[in-house]
Amino acid sequence: MIQNQSAGTKIIPVASGKGGVGKSFACVNLAASLAAAGKHTVLVDLDLGGSNIHTYLGVRNTYRGIGTLLSDHKLSFDDIVHPSPYPNLDFVPGDVLVTGLATLTAAQRKRIVNGITGVSADYVILDLGSGTTPQVLDFFLISNSGIIVTTPQPAAAVNAYSFLKNLVFRALLVRLADRKEAARYLREAAKEKRPGSAPRIDNLLKEVGRIDSGARKTARTLIKSLRPFVLGNLVEDAELFQRLTGSLRDLSTNNLNLDLSCLGVVFRDPAAEKADLEGAPIVSAHPEALAATQLDRAAQKILQSPSFPELPLDYEEYADSFELSMIEARLDREQARAAAAPDDSMSQEDFVQLVAEQQKKISELKQTIRNLTVGQQSPG
Ligand SMILES: Nc1ncnc2c1ncn2[C@@H]1O[C@H](COP(=O)(O)OP(=O)(O)OP(=O)(O)O)[C@@H](O)[C@H]1O
Ligand SMILES: [Mg+2]
Repeated sequence: MIQNQSAGTKIIPVASGKGGVGKSFACVNLAASLAAAGKHTVLVDLDLGGSNIHTYLGVRNTYRGIGTLLSDHKLSFDDIVHPSPYPNLDFVPGDVLVTGLATLTAAQRKRIVNGITGVSADYVILDLGSGTTPQVLDFFLISNSGIIVTTPQPAAAVNAYSFLKNLVFRALLVRLADRKEAARYLREAAKEKRPGSAPRIDNLLKEVGRIDSGARKTARTLIKSLRPFVLGNLVEDAELFQRLTGSLRDLSTNNLNLDLSCLGVVFRDPAAEKADLEGAPIVSAHPEALAATQLDRAAQKILQSPSFPELPLDYEEYADSFELSMIEARLDREQARAAAAPDDSMSQEDFVQLVAEQQKKISELKQTIRNLTVGQQSPG
């Protein structure tokens, strides 16, 4: 697992529990924003059963990709990295035309993982298939800080939780593979499927500790190092998104000991369909569109965090990243309403007042966070 805190290449896998929530759309646009900011970015299509990154980039599907790499042992990973029409943005196609790619052997997976971790770039963005197969989970675990895309549908939020739960178990089973007794116990616990029987990692690790105290310590350190981000997409009702992600966050903290952060909220935007038809990232083709500004903002959060996934303290707002994302979403909604219905819109004075109120909330939040931080630094 790559710890993304270091100054080297940052690898950011993007996954979702449910299909069709906008992973590929988010990947292409985050990558395009990072590239437009001058960062050398490589976008890898790892949705091997349904590759479509080339379509989003408006590129013909004629380049050698992952499938060709696996069928030709003379090729190196560098041979399948191709320039895109956008400066600083390279891409690795998935080879939609090569069949039998959806499930890889362990050796094939290893070859891909080695190739990805050997790429030299500022950012590597991985578009993963949806779902929670061991293959997807292993690709997600290349890095300690991937992004989970979810929509504000209960099914998508439930699947996002299920992705996180499977992720934690997979990470533990891979890391503890040589601690036979502990791994056997966890494998059995992972099979537990009774309704309402969500296993609490804390309880499981207590049992693991009884079997093998070293394994428990390793497990705790591993879970602590996982720093997944949530990106809300296709959002129409920001409050519903807030409620669902609130539950997702509580469950993740309480049951999985996982500390989730939020990278932002992207509204459903008709300009996305236009960009689709044009075969161009929305951030390039329609930078003024709401979804484009929101995706670009998410990319800026990554860019401005030199040790991503750590979000820096001078952006104190990020310390409660979910609350910040909601403030941003509310402001975005008001601005979109004002732009869409100028006659019915707020007066300029009302708008100035709204912005002032939101800014006051942000500074209160900053102050709270500062107090908490000071409290933590100098106990007593
Ligand atoms: N914010 C948005 N507003 C409007 N349409 C969107 C938005 N995000 C994504 N879409 C559209 O939703 C559709 C599905 O998006 P996308 O292909 O990125 O999903 P996915 O999660 O990658 O799907 P799959 O699981 O099949 O790989 C696309 O047509 C895309 O343009
Ligand atoms: Mg996709």
